[in-house]
Amino acid sequence: ADALKIGIAGLGTVGASLVRILQDRHETMATTCGRAIEITAVAARERSKDRGVKLAGIAWFEDAVSLASEADIDVFVELMGGAGDPAYSCVKAALMRGVHVVTANKALLAAHGIELAEIAEQHGALLNYEAAVAGGIPVIKALRESMTGNTISRVYGIMNGTCNYILTKMEKEGLSFEECLKEAQRLGYAEADPAFDIEGNDTAHKLSILTSLAFGTAIAADDIYLEGITNISIEDIQAASDLGYRIKLLGVAQRTDSGIEQRVHPTMVPHDTVIAQVDGVTNAVAIESDILGELLMVGPGAGGDATASAVLGDIADIAKSRPGAQHVPAFGRPAKALLPYKRARMQ
Ligand code: NDP
Ligand code: HSE
Repeated sequence: ADALKIGIAGLGTVGASLVRILQDRHETMATTCGRAIEITAVAARERSKDRGVKLAGIAWFEDAVSLASEADIDVFVELMGGAGDPAYSCVKAALMRGVHVVTANKALLAAHGIELAEIAEQHGALLNYEAAVAGGIPVIKALRESMTGNTISRVYGIMNGTCNYILTKMEKEGLSFEECLKEAQRLGYAEADPAFDIEGNDTAHKLSILTSLAFGTAIAADDIYLEGITNISIEDIQAASDLGYRIKLLGVAQRTDSGIEQRVHPTMVPHDTVIAQVDGVTNAVAIESDILGELLMVGPGAGGDATASAVLGDIADIAKSRPGAQHVPAFGRPAKALLPYKRARMQ
């Protein structure tokens, strides 16, 4: 079969890891997918930056929107970030010409996910975003595909690696909040603006996506009670520990009799639970459902390679699909079949 041609916009922590992995594993990916995966075009802001990867022979686009709308590609991989432009215009432009999209951008999906899913369906394109929630953990596939038919009652967990890294380091090494955040940034875990991590918005973006997948509803990222970890001190962590608890930033979405409840806030979790033992950049997502029961997935939640692993899986799914094959809708059911979001009455 012809090679799958991909264009990558964004060559930072995740983009550079992806390029390196695709180049290092070119042969094995081709064997696994039944066709080669070729990076034919890339875009980033600064052309002269050394990214530690080989870009010779790959077309360089000054403008990511031009890459998405004009380059000769089968898949547009969006790894720039941000809910607005250029990410939004790029993804829309690619989908509108039937080019598949793979993205790790939860801010974009929380704001425009359903609109983009509709455009994808109208133009026969796939919108894949496994890396957008909980890094390398395959939670999107679990909800979107594997658990189809289950009625889900609750989804919750640790969904931000930066916050969990900070809380763990503060507790175990006694380092200050600021020192731990700096280290998380150095390791490539934090968002370009780390306020999104520590104020809880990133967890809220991810939770809103999981809520839609779990309950089959439109995304409601603004309807989330939100509290980050900026006010948590070492003394708070110590006091919780003395009482037999650890403090974790949790995202929780659950069905209630009156509607759906979504919240993100620091939570005291009993020491002897699996969630309490999840340390560092690791994430954990629990899904409670009627047929399967409780599923708990624990794994790397951020970082270049862990995230690139999920992006790679999304690209491979497209490479393996055959022309004319029925596509999995972005939010698990046709966008038009998503139910209106109904918020729970506050107690
Ligand atoms: P980085 O900040 O490391 O990289 C962003 C890249 O996008 C850079 O290469 C930058 O160019 C490029 N870029 C930014 N703005 C533009 C623009 N206007 N036009 C063209 N290129 C642009 O981000 P990450 O790699 O960490 O994250 C990328 C995406 O993945 C985000 O959506 C993030 O939320 C998501 N994500 C990140 C994870 C992580 O662990 N880092 C985990 C899961 C998801 P230049 O290099 O020239 O400045
Ligand atoms: N900044 C995010 C985090 C990246 O720390 O979890 C992964 O989505």
